[in-house]
Amino acid sequence: MKVLAPMAGITDSDFLIKVIPYGFDMVTLGGYNLDDETLNAAKLVSKRGRKEFIIPIYKIYEYICFESFRVKNFNSEVLISANLRSLNPENIVKLSKINSLDVVEINCHCRQKEFIDIGCGQEMLKRDDLEEFISYVTNNASSKVSVKIRGNVLGVNTLEIADLISSCGVDYLHVDAMNPEVDDADFDLLNSLANELDTFIIGNNSVNSEAQVSKMLETGVNGFSIGRAIIDGNLDFQI
Ligand SMILES: Cc1cc2nc3c(=O)[nH]c(=O)nc-3n(C[C@H](O)[C@H](O)[C@H](O)COP(=O)(O)O)c2cc1C
Repeated sequence: MKVLAPMAGITDSDFLIKVIPYGFDMVTLGGYNLDDETLNAAKLVSKRGRKEFIIPIYKIYEYICFESFRVKNFNSEVLISANLRSLNPENIVKLSKINSLDVVEINCHCRQKEFIDIGCGQEMLKRDDLEEFISYVTNNASSKVSVKIRGNVLGVNTLEIADLISSCGVDYLHVDAMNPEVDDADFDLLNSLANELDTFIIGNNSVNSEAQVSKMLETGVNGFSIGRAIIDGNLDFQI
């Protein structure tokens, strides 16, 4: 499966419609903020010059309805996911009721200080109640559920946390296999995850050429996603 990774402030419906023809099977909107705490953190992030989607909370449901409907209308075959930051699972379940949204993706990934300070993004991986949070979503969602994690987070055993998340019955485990040591994906980590888990794994990080696509798929993951290589809306290799 070929997936467009979420990029806050960039991956809106216009962007998705532009890049679907490159051959994506799943495209991701967001990340969006579903509560006051995550929205305030995003505002702080955007104040220091990083792009974010700043949508008022009272409008967010309607906004994602519209965005996902536009993309579905353009191409009804491609799966549409929304990457979501939320401190409680109920908001995510609510979004999963949107008809044109195929997947809700729980953001356990962002590493900006503003999100970490409120226990969001990759800090979610340290929550004592992570299992309850994710199970609540998988048990109640009307759409498929993805969890996007960052690998190699200090103080987190990626294999153990991936195993816990898989046991909650998620449909996709989207793994940014960032390797803090080098500017490339941690292919060994993806290989271990693919060997140990039955869950559908989307490998992410540094897919920017056909050679990198091959390396990613050789790890045994079920799909891969692309972010920075398409950040300007153009992809200069075949997927
Ligand atoms: C500008 C930008 C914004 C991003 N925003 C998000 C986000 O909101 N949620 C998320 O889970 N990942 C986000 N990411 C991370 C990407 O989805 C991806 O995991 C990361 O860039 C590594 O993949 P790549 O090497 O293909 O870019 C963002 C990345 C970039 C470059």
